[in-house]
Order: sequence, then C-alpha cells, then structure tokens
Amino acid sequence: MDTSLQLLTTLTGMFVFALGVGLLVVIVMYVVDVRQTQHAVRRNFPVIGRFRYLFEHLGEFFRQYFFALDREEMPFNRAERSWAYRAAKGEDTTVAFGSSRDLRPTGTVLFVNCAYPTMERDAAAPGSVTVGPYCDHPYQTDSFFNVSGMSFGAISKPAVQALSRGAKKAGCWMNTGEGGLSSYHLEGGADIVFQIGTAKYGVRDADGYLSDERLREVAAHQQVKMFELKLSQGAKPGKGGILPGEKVTEEIAAIRFIEPGHDSISPNRHPEVNSAADLLDLLGRVRSITGKPTGFKCVIGAYGWLDELCELIHQRGVESAPDFITIDSADGGTGAAPMSLIDYVGLPVKESLPLVADTLGRHGLKDRVRLIASGKLTNPGEVAWAMCVGADFVVSARGFMFSLGCIQALQCNRNTCPTGITTHDPDLQKGLVPEDKAERVYRYAKTVKKEVAVIAHSCGVSEPRGLKRFHCRVVGNDGRSVPLDELYPEQRPSPGQVLSGGVE
Ligand SMILES: Cc1cc2nc3c(=O)[nH]c(=O)nc-3n(C[C@H](O)[C@H](O)[C@H](O)COP(=O)(O)O)c2cc1C
Ligand code: SF4
Repeated sequence: MDTSLQLLTTLTGMFVFALGVGLLVVIVMYVVDVRQTQHAVRRNFPVIGRFRYLFEHLGEFFRQYFFALDREEMPFNRAERSWAYRAAKGEDTTVAFGSSRDLRPTGTVLFVNCAYPTMERDAAAPGSVTVGPYCDHPYQTDSFFNVSGMSFGAISKPAVQALSRGAKKAGCWMNTGEGGLSSYHLEGGADIVFQIGTAKYGVRDADGYLSDERLREVAAHQQVKMFELKLSQGAKPGKGGILPGEKVTEEIAAIRFIEPGHDSISPNRHPEVNSAADLLDLLGRVRSITGKPTGFKCVIGAYGWLDELCELIHQRGVESAPDFITIDSADGGTGAAPMSLIDYVGLPVKESLPLVADTLGRHGLKDRVRLIASGKLTNPGEVAWAMCVGADFVVSARGFMFSLGCIQALQCNRNTCPTGITTHDPDLQKGLVPEDKAERVYRYAKTVKKEVAVIAHSCGVSEPRGLKRFHCRVVGNDGRSVPLDELYPEQRPSPGQVLSGGVE
C-alpha cells in the first residue's frame, strides 16, 4: 500500500473513532439529562438544553461587543467606559458629528454656558482646600478628583502599585479601602487616606478592637494624611466587607491581622458606634491619637440622624465635628455584595448629595465639614455636577479601574478577573504591568480634571471650584430643565438659630 493511501486509511479510522466517541458522549449526556430531576430545561430538551448555560455565560462577554448600544449597558455603558479608556491612553477624547447622549429624559444634567466664557488666559488653577483645621496636622490639597477606597485584597498588588504611582504623578490622594495599609500603597508616594472599616483591619488588636498603638504606627507615616471611618458603603449598606477565602492570601492576612484562607467578613457596623454621641467619640479618639483629619463614609438612606449629629456638634463645639463626610451612592461599586442590597438599599448620590450639603448648610457647618462625593462620578460631566451641588472633592473607584484596563467582566468576586485587577492569581496578574498602568491612571485623572475645568470655563468661571448650583440644570418630568438652585435652594442657618461658640 503506498503511503498516501495508508495516511488516508488512518485518518478515516480516526474520524470514525472520534465520531463514535462523540456519539457515545451525546448518548451518555442524553441519559443523564432525562434521568436527572434538578434542571427542567435539560430534562425536557436533553443535550441541547445544555447550550443554554454556555450561551448565558458567554453572553456576559459578547453582549458588550456585539449587541449593546453605546448608551445601553449597566453599570457603565460603552460611551462612559470608552471615554475613560481614551483618557487613560492619552488618546483624543473629542467625538464627531453629534452627541449620542439623549438630552430629553427626566434627570438629565445640563450645564449653563455663559455668553462670555472664560478665556484661556483667565483660567485659574483649582483652589486649595484645608481639611481638619483643628487637627495637629490639617490636610491641604487642590486635588478635587481622587482615588476612592478599594482594599488590597479586593484588588491585586499590581493594581495597588499602579494606583499609588499614578495618583502621585497626578497629585491625587489614594484611599486604602478597609483592607489596611501595605507597602504597595506607600511605594508610589501618593497622599494616603487610611480607611478604618468595621473589622478595623490593619489597626485591630488580637480581639478585633481598635488598637491605639497600631493607629499611631499608621499615622506615623507622613504620607497618611487623613483617616476615614467607614460606616457604610453604597453597594452594601448594613453589610460589612466580604473577601472570599481564596482571596485571603498569607500576605493579605498579615496586613489585615487575620487568618489566611478563610472568608474575611467584617461586622455590619462598628459595634461601638450606636448613636451620634458614639460616632463623635470615635472620630474624636482617632483624631486625637493620629493628629490628622478624621471623617466618615456612608451611604444615605434615612437622614434624620444627620440633623441630630449636627445639633450635637454644636453642643460639643465645632472642633468635635467630622472633618469630612464621604457620601457614597447606592449604585456604588464593590468587590462582592448581595444583590438585594446592591439593587434596592440606599439613595443614589444624585439625591443624597444635595440633601447632605443642605443639612450642613442649615446647621452652618458647610465650611467646617468637607464633603466628598462618590458613585458613578467617573466622567467630567458627573464630577462637575457634584462640584455644582456642593462637593469639595469627588472620588472614584471604578473610573480608576477602567484606567487600569477593567473591561467590566463583572467577576471581581471570583478571583478570575481577566485584567489582573481583582485577582490574586499570578498568571492573570501578569497582564497588569504597574509601570505602564500607572501612566494610564495619571492620564485619566489629569484628563478628568482638565475637562471639568473646560465645563467651568464654558460656564464663565475660572476654575472648577467656582461652579455653583445655578450653573447646572436638571430636566424635569415635563421635559423642561430647572436650575439646580431652584430645585435645591441653598440652605443657611435660620436667624436666631444658636450655633456652636454662641454664634447666632
Ligand atoms: C473592587 C472594589 C473594592 C472596593 N472596596 C471598598 C472598600 O474597601 N471600602 C470602601 O469604603 N469602599 C470600597 N469600594 C467602593 C468604592 O470606594 C466607591 O465608594 C464606590 O465604588 C463608588 O464609586 P465608583 O462609582 O467610582 O466606583 C470598593 C469598590 C470596588 C469596585
Ligand atoms: S475586568 Fe471584570 S473582574 Fe476585573 S475588575 Fe473589571 S469588572 Fe472586575
């Protein structure tokens, strides 16, 4: 037999064998499917029903490329993500032909350009703001756009490294999130906000209580500029942080002072904070030990407690006030949270930011307590809106994740992040090169700040901090837009109201 005939016979044999094996597998699947009782689809449509699960899984990835329109996806649509990607890559952020943003729906934010916009020569650098004027070490910064809390644990080592280097270059601060302080946070040289979560990771004693000694050690780092007590987070109000055991490596456990390999679940509130008085006590304790500005982060739901807090501040004196409050949005991001909380609990920042700004205004505390806003404020327009409403600073987590290359694969809780941001698998982390991504973090922050300034100039003010409520309008139910200052008139203390220090 000549060799080509021999090859043909072998290939035919292999083909028939493969076909036989394939047929056998299908028969086994068929029998398994019709006999099992757990999945109705597989029982009614044996073998074929299995494709449903495959397509459902693949749909997560392919929808965004082939089917979803530019403004359609959640949590972030393609237009929002693309802007962040282009800004991070240093590419042209201009668009052609016309806006793909529908300007008609209720709630659409529009800015009020003026007849005589600010000339480039008259543009000014953002003003600097002091946080914690009564502290031993007040913090002064002109950076109005900064990196929100993401714990080392929820995000990877190279992600922390890239953020810390990029934030330094952009002049931003970086919040540690609730996972404690690592050398990777410090190595870039950026200003750090240390977050104290409900489990006090990184500053807890052997029994899980706040340790004054460990607080002092953290505060001794010059780079650590402020302390933030996390009361709640937008994505999961009333639930503590959740870090699955597979993400609790030896290193992460050592930084947090916990056991490696076990789920790291923090309590759903600070056990020692059960009232306005407890809250001011704890803030005062952290501030007096560290000497640095101390505030808290929360998502607003019920809000009567804010008035109570402000009244107590005046009873104790304005020094006792939180130096800042971070308002997180109900639609904020997370590494992992129950869907019932992500989808249903808490107010979006569009509603809560004016509410908190007005409460502080009513109690004459707006200048004392700095306001930080977060929650899908990833593009210049949203940041400018927050500045108009009264935020002193805006922070973002997912905007900076996009700058690191996040493709919104929505697997942050599974240690399988394809871009290396939220995984501790070294093979997946290989793709995230901190030196390269730090540049992207820097360029993203720089471009956001630059374009907020562009909006400010169009409105006729020389710098972003000049933006006020009357520069912004919101489309109402009847399709007509209303100025923000009409929707939320600026609040001041009423005449005769007794404020701290006897001021009336
Ligand atoms: C992966 C990840 C981890 C986070 N970890 C924390 C955390 O440790 N502490 C915290 O207060 N918020 C945490 N957050 C919430 C963010 O700080 C932020 O408040 C929220 O995502 C809203 O901002 P964004 O819309 O710009 O992402 C995390 C968010 C993400 C996406
Ligand atoms: S790429 Fe996916 S898994 Fe990774 S951070 Fe982004 S959303 Fe999370």
